[in-house]
Amino acid sequence: MELKDAIRTRRSIRSFLSGEVKKEIMDAILSDARWSPSWGNTQPWEVLVITGDKLDIFKEKNRNAAFSGKSPNPEIAMPEEWPEINKNRYRDIGKRTLESLSIARADKEARNNFTGEMMKLFNAPVLILIMTDKGVALEYSMLDVGLYVQTLCLLAQERGLGTCIMAAAVQYPDLIRELFEISDSKRIVVGVALGWPDKDNPVNSFDRTRGSMEEFVRYTE
Ligand SMILES: Cc1cc2nc3c(=O)[nH]c(=O)nc-3n(C[C@H](O)[C@H](O)[C@H](O)COP(=O)(O)O)c2cc1C
Repeated sequence: MELKDAIRTRRSIRSFLSGEVKKEIMDAILSDARWSPSWGNTQPWEVLVITGDKLDIFKEKNRNAAFSGKSPNPEIAMPEEWPEINKNRYRDIGKRTLESLSIARADKEARNNFTGEMMKLFNAPVLILIMTDKGVALEYSMLDVGLYVQTLCLLAQERGLGTCIMAAAVQYPDLIRELFEISDSKRIVVGVALGWPDKDNPVNSFDRTRGSMEEFVRYTE
């Protein structure tokens, strides 16, 4: 697959088939992803691959936490206020996602069901949990993790696998720490759900948008 095609065809997958992903494939992807750039070659990412029964337990607990009324406390802060332009884009992707599943805004039960599915990682058979040591510089390590995660997603795309980068996987770090024995010295950054995409589910094929070149790019005269 051409790099450009991998970039243009990768999209967030929000419905996975149950089929397992062989460890050899995971090893190959994770081995290549090590070649992502990082500040001073610090390679601050630390990766836990979660599958099988342990993943099933996590999905259930993550979903239950979301409906328990417990406040999320992610270790990457979520600002309450966003600039209008970003807020609008965020609203738009939420709307398109629900519309693709014919879920009306007013249908609270169906929306809750979707949230439940999201907390259960859309049935993905693999969760790649990305952490950093709390001792590394937060801002640069977040840039580095972003590069790593995109590399990982493109490598998965090349093999026909789907991914969804998921803040929803790390809203309740206490339960992750407890289940997977993660030390307090680590920062739990983000999860990547991975598996074979359900190509028949319209949630995986609705039209997405990007801003125009003029919105982002300026050349000097
Ligand atoms: C840091 C980060 C966290 C994300 N968290 C979630 C999430 O919790 N749930 C979800 O459905 N999508 C999540 N996404 C996916 C974004 O919504 C998606 O990347 C964006 O809408 C662009 O769409 P595309 O990935 O299909 O190109 C996340 C993406 C990033 C980069």
